[in-house]
Amino acid sequence: MTIILRDKAALRAWRLAMAPSQRVGFVPTMGALHQGHMSLLAQAREAAEVTIASIFVNPLQFGPNEDLSRYPRPIEADIEKLEAAGVDALFLPSVEDMYPEGASTFVEETLVSGPLCGAMRPGHFRGVTTVVLKLFNLVQPHVAVFGQKDAQQCAVIERMVRDLNVPVTIVRGPIVREADGLALSSRNVYLSAEDRAAAPLLHKSLQAVAAAHAAGEHDAAALAAIGLAVLAQSERIKVQYWEVRDPESLGAITTVGARGALLAVAAHLGTTRLIDNLLLGSDA
Ligand code: PAF
Repeated sequence: MTIILRDKAALRAWRLAMAPSQRVGFVPTMGALHQGHMSLLAQAREAAEVTIASIFVNPLQFGPNEDLSRYPRPIEADIEKLEAAGVDALFLPSVEDMYPEGASTFVEETLVSGPLCGAMRPGHFRGVTTVVLKLFNLVQPHVAVFGQKDAQQCAVIERMVRDLNVPVTIVRGPIVREADGLALSSRNVYLSAEDRAAAPLLHKSLQAVAAAHAAGEHDAAALAAIGLAVLAQSERIKVQYWEVRDPESLGAITTVGARGALLAVAAHLGTTRLIDNLLLGSDA
């Protein structure tokens, strides 16, 4: 039975009742749960005795022209999925509870947040770090699991936890894909049939670049050009970025060396923005 904690006071009472020896695993989400979330929850269950998820569509991480109002909110179906997965508790706060009137404190990571999605979505990562730190302070988890699908989000949160001495171990869960390679995302439901058919090209472009790298191409610009050429096969795909970056700082690199690289792509299909990535291992 999943206990539903609808505000901060209920969450605090639940957390206080727990023995200090009980390890808590946490998966923060914005709901519209899919198999990707389920695999993160399974990882949290393996790492801890008690598992808690949160569902909160965080207004602070959406830009003015983004999809906050139409973001899917199938809360009854989500609760059923959490029950079936054996999750112990769900934190389901309101916007007013998370952001009391006059809230004027924000958390900002200033390096890893800069490029890629940070450049395309100003303020997005400030919204993410602010809400994630607030959630960590309330839930006080030992372990928190985030999806590698949002590789930059993982890197930003790891940096925040390191820089601010937050006592939480961050675990990255692998990307879960459809049979044709499309990375699972709550936003996939927006895709028209035609855009859905074109969407697996994002993953194909990452695979083509990984193959070129394995065959000896290490020049970052040449690798990105290979990825872009694959996406050019569909005129439905409007690329925002296709980048080869340092895997940790996400800084620009000219050559893929011993540290490997993060291959990262973002594109619009119709009005839907999709992202995907692949970690190239080190040359060692
Ligand atoms: O990845 C998400 O769903 C969100 O960015 C998160 C981590 C739940 C913060 O709102």
